[in-house]
Amino acid sequence: MSETATLEINGQKHEFPLIKGTENEVAIDIKTLRGVTGGVTTIDPGYKNTGSCESAITFLNGEEGVLRYRGYAIEDLAEKASFLEVAYLLIFGELPTKVELDKFHADIKEESVVDDDIKKILDAFPKTAHPMGVLSSLTSALTAFNPTSVNVDSEEDMYRAIVKIMGKFPVLVAWTMRKQKGLPLDYGDDSIGYVENVLKMMFKKPNQEYVENSILINALDKLLILHADHEQNCSTSTVRIVGSSHAGLFASLSAGISALWGPLHGGANQAVLEMLEAIKEDGGDTKKFMAKAKDKQDPFRLMGFGHRVYKNFDPRAKIIKVAADEVLADLGVEDPVLDIAKGLAAEALSDEYFVKRKLYPNVDFYSGIIYRAMGIPVEMFTVMFALGRLPGWISQWKEMRTRKEPIGRPRQVYTGENYREFKTIDNR
Ligand code: SDX
Repeated sequence: MSETATLEINGQKHEFPLIKGTENEVAIDIKTLRGVTGGVTTIDPGYKNTGSCESAITFLNGEEGVLRYRGYAIEDLAEKASFLEVAYLLIFGELPTKVELDKFHADIKEESVVDDDIKKILDAFPKTAHPMGVLSSLTSALTAFNPTSVNVDSEEDMYRAIVKIMGKFPVLVAWTMRKQKGLPLDYGDDSIGYVENVLKMMFKKPNQEYVENSILINALDKLLILHADHEQNCSTSTVRIVGSSHAGLFASLSAGISALWGPLHGGANQAVLEMLEAIKEDGGDTKKFMAKAKDKQDPFRLMGFGHRVYKNFDPRAKIIKVAADEVLADLGVEDPVLDIAKGLAAEALSDEYFVKRKLYPNVDFYSGIIYRAMGIPVEMFTVMFALGRLPGWISQWKEMRTRKEPIGRPRQVYTGENYREFKTIDNR
């Protein structure tokens, strides 16, 4: 491979270095472009062809449907690891020993109490508030109660901020759901596992002994692993660019939660269930909705389908589809929308419009079916996505801050009015 790329502008040739990653991805390093060309920049709406950083955390191959965290295949991690192990792997770069994992969990449990005054903020929201808006607000508010988490100039400061949010975020997730259901806000149980504790905080009834359900624990553990990181997606890029101004970790995560909320991104898992329910209510005619998805005049899209990077099956969707069958069977739940989902997927996978555009089911297509079987309200689905993505956001923010990357500030091409004289109001 040549070491450089040549760009000719107005008869002038310019050489730019090519960089190659450990998986042989090649990029043109244009750090000097504007300087050597007298101001020429690039433009790439949606950054479809533009890399924002070099990263050692997650590798995707969209053509082959490959996803690896720190070099480990998602299939192996989903099958053999726990969510807390995967969180440690993403954040610190290696799978933990038992001693390391136990210490990480102990440090997280130490920090898993949330200041009671946060409840006053939660109380101010109407019950109809969308949980993602509540979660984003409460996550940002954590900064006010944990001011030392902002200036993380030492490794110890960074570690403290990380275990604080790993401990407090699941409490905010549980409180967000319980508030909407009118249930008392409480804490979990330090004697049980991380994911076990999430479920207990979410579902413990004030008047009943809580009984663990291993099916739900295993299903949630796997779902959180599958959502844990996904390189430079919309919300992760948001966390990185907000963090690049040296805003604190919690404020950066709050911004990422807002980005994830959108129906084109993490909000798709809620939109998929609403779409499947609409199809069911409409009589189950999937062909009618396929036609709508293909009609350019119709804003309707097949939610849970398509992906910026995967032009093959999203490997996470494959795993979740199998898990959906298993969980519903284990729970003895019959969910007609699962059959509608399978019917839609089968039709889309043989439909020329979808095949030509390489539109396959993505991570959001089947996940909501499992969440619903677990008794999680549809408006909480994207909150569960955020809970899974938390360690990924943390790892990416840590990588950006540790590498002391510059503040993110893209350029533009101005296409507005040229200079014009000011006119006083009497002359307009
Ligand atoms: C996530 O980036 C990540 O990694 C995200 C994520 C993560 O883990 O962080 O994987 C999680 O966000 C998954 C995606 C969830 N979103 C959805 O399921 C919403 C539905 N999907 C689409 O809106 C769309 O596919 C996107 C947003 C996911 C990707 O959009 P792109 O890459 O900008 O592609 P595009 O909009 O340019 O579409 C290309 C073509 C267009 O048709 P033409 O103009 O070429 O004729 O495909 C069409 C689109 O109209 N198309 C769809 C479609 N998705 C794309 N047509 C119908 N239904 C769809 N779902």
